Amino acid sequence: MADQYAHSGEDKRPTEIPAIRWEEPPEGPVLVLLDQTRLPAEEVELVCTDASALVEAIRSLAVRGAPLLGIAGAYGVALAAVRGFDVDEAAASLASARPTAVNLALGVRRAHSAHEAALAKGGDVRQAASAALAAARQLHREDAEASARMAEQGLALLDELLPGGGHRVLTHCNTGSLVSGGEGTAFAVALAAHRTGRLRRLWVDETRPLLQGARLTAYEAARAGMAYTLLTDNAAGSLFAAGEVDAVLIGADRITADGSVANKVGSYPLAVLARYHHVPFIVVAPVTTVDLETAEGASIEVEQRPGHEVTELVAPQVPVAGAAEAGGGIPVAPLGTQAYNPAFDVTPAELVTAIVTEEGVVSPVTAEALAEVCARSRRV
Ligand code: MRU
Repeated sequence: MADQYAHSGEDKRPTEIPAIRWEEPPEGPVLVLLDQTRLPAEEVELVCTDASALVEAIRSLAVRGAPLLGIAGAYGVALAAVRGFDVDEAAASLASARPTAVNLALGVRRAHSAHEAALAKGGDVRQAASAALAAARQLHREDAEASARMAEQGLALLDELLPGGGHRVLTHCNTGSLVSGGEGTAFAVALAAHRTGRLRRLWVDETRPLLQGARLTAYEAARAGMAYTLLTDNAAGSLFAAGEVDAVLIGADRITADGSVANKVGSYPLAVLARYHHVPFIVVAPVTTVDLETAEGASIEVEQRPGHEVTELVAPQVPVAGAAEAGGGIPVAPLGTQAYNPAFDVTPAELVTAIVTEEGVVSPVTAEALAEVCARSRRV
């Protein structure tokens, strides 16, 4: 099957899409975000001049994905500091803007601690702000480096698990350069396979309800000239049954000490399918996504999103006249319908074949092996 569904992969624009950048125009420093709610229709930038604008951008998913949330949180603290706002208040509101991706609170803490440490050493507010900005820049660079190393390790693992190349990889949500200082997590591995001629097909789950797969992963795959095919989340089962999936590659928002993986809702069903069909289920995430302070998956706070994201067809880049009561989308369910809309689910370690980090591959996934890999690079 497969090839008649292929995207031709003709888009030759550069694959580098800066999702975030710090700028210092004469009017004062700003954080510039590529507004992901507008993609793929428009490449529009969002300019944040204070932390509250960034909090709004995080909640609306203009900026999203675990590693990028960490980078954004760190820059948000720096922004508050250089513009003379209350840094403690900014840090608290940024850290709690979304609860599941551990990187957000971690990134905020990193810049906030640098700011506090500079003040404690007798530095003035300007020096403390510079320290916060330096910490954010450092995190941004480290994430780019981690991304490149995950791609290398993940590709080596794919080759080991699937000798012979021609990988047909299924992915969920969006994990490329839109969520990272580099080329991403799971998507970076698929990209490395593509560049070395080992990727036969990238199966892209559309990722209901906000369509991160259809809108963002397809956009990134097209830009990279990859052979990709979009499917509804519900079509994954029949794809496995047809023997069309060699491996699943996903990212993570939080990995607990026991190896449980919180990721975009729909990841857990894929893990169950993968186990049933004897297909490797591989999680790719930097060690900053591993939360050793949380013992197990059941303790992860899973963000619940508003019901209108389910009861309406959400097309954020296309405002629909006359459908403004809830989210501005096209209503598809009867008025007043309640919706269950968790943003994430949790996959137990026993269903995860391997966790690929920049510090090494954890497989089989055990608490001890995970702690050992994290110990190689703990910085916070
Ligand atoms: O709600 P989102 O779009 O922020 O969810 C993002 C995901 O679930 C990603 O898969 C996860 O952050 C890993 S990104 C490297």
